[in-house]
Amino acid sequence: MTQPTLYDQILDFANRADPWPLYEQLRTRPVWAEEDGTFVVSRYRDIYALMHDPRLSSDPNNLLPEFADKLPPAEGPGGMAPAFIRTDPPRHDVLRRTVMRQFGPPHRPDRIDKLTPKLSAVVAELIDKIAGKPEADLVDEVAYPFPVAVISELLGVPAEDQATFGGWVDPIVNALTRPTPEQLQERNDAMQQLSHYMLELAQRRRTQPGDDMISGFVTDDGPDGRLEGGDLLSTLILLLIAGHETTVNLITNGWLTLQRHPDQLQRLRTEPRFAIRMVEELLRYEPSVHILPLRTAVDDIEIGDATVRKGHPIAVMLASGNRDAECIPDADRFDPDRPDNVHLSFAGGIHYCLGAPLARLEAQIALTQLAKRLQNPRLVADPPPYRPSPILRGPIHLRIAYDAVLPA
Ligand code: HEM
Repeated sequence: MTQPTLYDQILDFANRADPWPLYEQLRTRPVWAEEDGTFVVSRYRDIYALMHDPRLSSDPNNLLPEFADKLPPAEGPGGMAPAFIRTDPPRHDVLRRTVMRQFGPPHRPDRIDKLTPKLSAVVAELIDKIAGKPEADLVDEVAYPFPVAVISELLGVPAEDQATFGGWVDPIVNALTRPTPEQLQERNDAMQQLSHYMLELAQRRRTQPGDDMISGFVTDDGPDGRLEGGDLLSTLILLLIAGHETTVNLITNGWLTLQRHPDQLQRLRTEPRFAIRMVEELLRYEPSVHILPLRTAVDDIEIGDATVRKGHPIAVMLASGNRDAECIPDADRFDPDRPDNVHLSFAGGIHYCLGAPLARLEAQIALTQLAKRLQNPRLVADPPPYRPSPILRGPIHLRIAYDAVLPA
């Protein structure tokens, strides 16, 4: 039997709670060529350069057939209509531009800021629900319901439909990595119902538009036209999924880190605006997305003395890059006061996370409210149990005990 490689060990669930020493070993070489054909890239500078290299493709159709055939059905070219996260220019840029017109500057500079009162109200209500109990699970009771409520609001899903809508999102998110056949079936059923609902909602918004993103997509007269049919659906589903488990993990990894650094938790209670730089450091120190596992190269790419070969899968180790002491001083220290925070947690280049401003705001609001309202919070288990995925890494449950919950 062959010895497990470092990359095998990182994927192994046994190392989920503490992958950091393995990443450090990975960084001793610029590239690791795995027996299955994957190239693993883990140093900060190399990742940064790759993210900005036009030879790096996000389109699974550029994988050689022997690799494309092994993709899980939810990710492969035969799966969902390719959302723009899985496309290259020029198609990627057209779709991304169309979405940005409804999401942020210059056309909608106020879209995210205007959400602040709504975000605060949603979190306050979720925390109210855990008052009166001695313990709660921050994943199930606060972090998990939060992003669905927020994206429903942004897209313009009517309040009375939001519970049903959230029910369709769960099976889709659950089937993201290595789904069982049952999970895949549940995902397909949910996707069908969600698609039907979305197309009907889009039809209503065409004739009675509101101030929401779906109305914007279907009535926009911008240079690239409106989002319609398959493009509309795949984009809506991308917006739902991309901001879900990522945000859940940021909030729960964040709370875990704050409990392990009580001095910083205390600052969150008392220092106005501390949340901004604290969340930035959390993104670096405990990122939600550890690996981009599905990139490939449209041409051979030299990295150091190695060659990443055209058509092979490339595993881009974002979390490892964030702890690379070559570029980030004292990288293993959680230090919200660092003068420059140049983390890779939202990736980089043309696929840089579109939802980053929203994700930051959600985490700032959720963590500040938790810090201010929970009296004497304690972790019930440290480390907590983790989700299976090595890619979207975070606790599957985060039980905390507290003496009381203060009013909002
Ligand atoms: C902590 C929260 C989040 C993290 C860590 C995160 C991280 C990332 C990363 C690493 C990528 C690059 C993926 C790739 O290139 O394959 C990405 C892309 C993307 N994210 Fe996020 N994300 C977060 C929240 C959100 C939210 C809230 C939304 C939407 C409302 C969102 C929407 C997107 C979209 C649409 C893309 C694709 C961009 C493109 O391909 O041009 N994300 N995100």
